[in-house]
Amino acid sequence: MKLDVVLIAQEVRPSQVLGRTAIVIDVLRATSSITTALANGCRAVRPVVSTEEAFALAQSSEPGTFLLTGERGGLKVEGFDLGNSPREYSADVVAAKTIIMTTTNGTLAIKNSSPAKTVLLACLLNGRSVARRAVLSGDDITMVCSGTEGIFTLEDAYCAGMLAEEISRVAETEPTDMALACRLIYQRYCDDPLGLMESAIHGQKLRRIGFGEDLVYCSQKNVLAVVPVLRGDSVVAL
Ligand code: MLT
Repeated sequence: MKLDVVLIAQEVRPSQVLGRTAIVIDVLRATSSITTALANGCRAVRPVVSTEEAFALAQSSEPGTFLLTGERGGLKVEGFDLGNSPREYSADVVAAKTIIMTTTNGTLAIKNSSPAKTVLLACLLNGRSVARRAVLSGDDITMVCSGTEGIFTLEDAYCAGMLAEEISRVAETEPTDMALACRLIYQRYCDDPLGLMESAIHGQKLRRIGFGEDLVYCSQKNVLAVVPVLRGDSVVAL
């Protein structure tokens, strides 16, 4: 099974994902929020790229059935119900709702990965479950890191490395040098994901704007079993 990694959302080309399982990663924080929402009983997440699209979709949805969520600059968008802190997506808030979400990088990574045969979403919270599911597909795998505004981020590469380790434990793999490099990052910080996030650019920004607790939450490994998958325009629990 071939194993590749794309380092930023903006770099995904259809040829890198066509016929493959793509695993979209945005540890801080979009895929952590989506995973948490689905684990807490939300019906589906509709990822969209722009705030305009999000508001338009909300307009055409039945009131009371959805939440409008996401961020710009890490902060809740004016007029939205929730921001992008996974700790906001508790069962009492999201159960049975459809979430219309737009984030700066994560929802773009999902859209750009959509030509793949299958699109799964991963973060540290559900890494092992997603890795095992991807192996079951038998497909070659491309892990798509979101990065931040076109820039490489350590925590996404760390998560790609963790997935590569998990996959290599149960399947014969042919990793690219990029997949090997992510594994090396993972091995270097294996037991200290929080330390890695705190030294990394996006983690520092989130701490500065008051979301330090999100780093603690998002640094937990394999605590959720839910596997988010893109079905048409929506992400649902597999
Ligand atoms: C994104 O998609 O850009 C991120 O999830 C940003 C954030 O930390 O909210």
